[in-house]
Amino acid sequence: MSTHIAARMDRMAPSGIRKVNEKALAMERAGETVIHFEIGRPDFDTPEYIKRAAIEALQNGDVFYTSNFGKMELRQAIAEKLKRENGLDYEAEEILVTAGLSEAVFAVLAAILDESDELLVPDPVWINYRNVPAFLNAVPVSYDLKEENEYQLDLDEIRSKITERTRAIVLVTPNNPTGGVLCRRVLNELAALVIEKDLLVISDEVYERLIYGGEEHVSIASLPGMKERTFTMNGLSKAYSMTGWRLGYVAAPKEYIPALNKFHQHNTTCAVSFGQTAAIAAFREEGDEVKEMVKEYERRRDYAVKAINEIDGLSCLCPKGAFYIFINCKSLGRPSAELADWLLGEAKIALVPGSVFGPGGEGYLRMSFANSYDNIVEGCRRLKEAVEGIQKEARK
Ligand SMILES: Cc1ncc(COP(=O)(O)O)c(C=O)c1O
Repeated sequence: MSTHIAARMDRMAPSGIRKVNEKALAMERAGETVIHFEIGRPDFDTPEYIKRAAIEALQNGDVFYTSNFGKMELRQAIAEKLKRENGLDYEAEEILVTAGLSEAVFAVLAAILDESDELLVPDPVWINYRNVPAFLNAVPVSYDLKEENEYQLDLDEIRSKITERTRAIVLVTPNNPTGGVLCRRVLNELAALVIEKDLLVISDEVYERLIYGGEEHVSIASLPGMKERTFTMNGLSKAYSMTGWRLGYVAAPKEYIPALNKFHQHNTTCAVSFGQTAAIAAFREEGDEVKEMVKEYERRRDYAVKAINEIDGLSCLCPKGAFYIFINCKSLGRPSAELADWLLGEAKIALVPGSVFGPGGEGYLRMSFANSYDNIVEGCRRLKEAVEGIQKEARK
């Protein structure tokens, strides 16, 4: 029988991050020792109190479908969290629990974008924001996040890209892959523009807790006039080191919840039942667990940023949030995909080519510092040695 894959699948590119990861894993199976800087996955175990809550839930028979919207108690715990940490006034009924933030992205974009509608997306950005609208036959329109602008938005550029067909703008703060954090002043200016043009905002805040050096995370929905046009999206993956649990949520204007839920019903039905119970504990019983992880990320960040900036030919800004360093490698004069592949083969360090995140990422490599301090020290040593090798070769 011949294989027929529907044409729409061609509109989604496979993950360039997984491509690097698969190659690194194959090298490990062949006996090499690779240092993994490619995956955006916390290296800590899920905090014990959350695991305990899940185990108890399982033992208590919490094993059935839940309300498709998510358990009411969890929706309430999320509403409390949004009030406490983000200054947002959501009711439980304005919250939908999803199987990870990834599912929320699909649900929201499917619910708001008609064919040919335009969605403003950062460049560079986590690739789902380009792939999902394309899959839906909508049009992702890039706006730049530039290093020289400290990865803030350029409001004039955004204004120039708004057309009759623009429906919404995506914000990712703190950002993957740049580590940039959008500041209050820029968000205030953006809010005024969005209100003037009557746009929706998709605000991905999955890295909000991973923020360093006293930086402030601002939820755009907390600014005047913004809650009614914002989808505040988050999940437990990064803050609580729960990537495998698949728990996320979207807080949205009430009128959108039934449409989002329709997508979610047909996609996953509900998020995992005992995971939802553990998520209630995560929000309500948190001690110092997240703070401790953030302290350690910051220690690693500080080491890596200094080490990278000491390598002739590489440079980076100090990321204000998330756990990524976006390394400028332009002066080495090689395409980032070629350079990343070479570094993996020669130095056994896995980095993601910036081009994976959009054309604006060309000339950069993304390094995740969600890896042990010792591995970061060794990885930076290998990086320095490899880049010095390239420089020497070039001088010959
Ligand atoms: C910006 C951003 N949003 C969302 C996600 C996915 O989160 P989840 O694990 O909740 O699906 C990621 C994962 O890397 C991400 O980088």
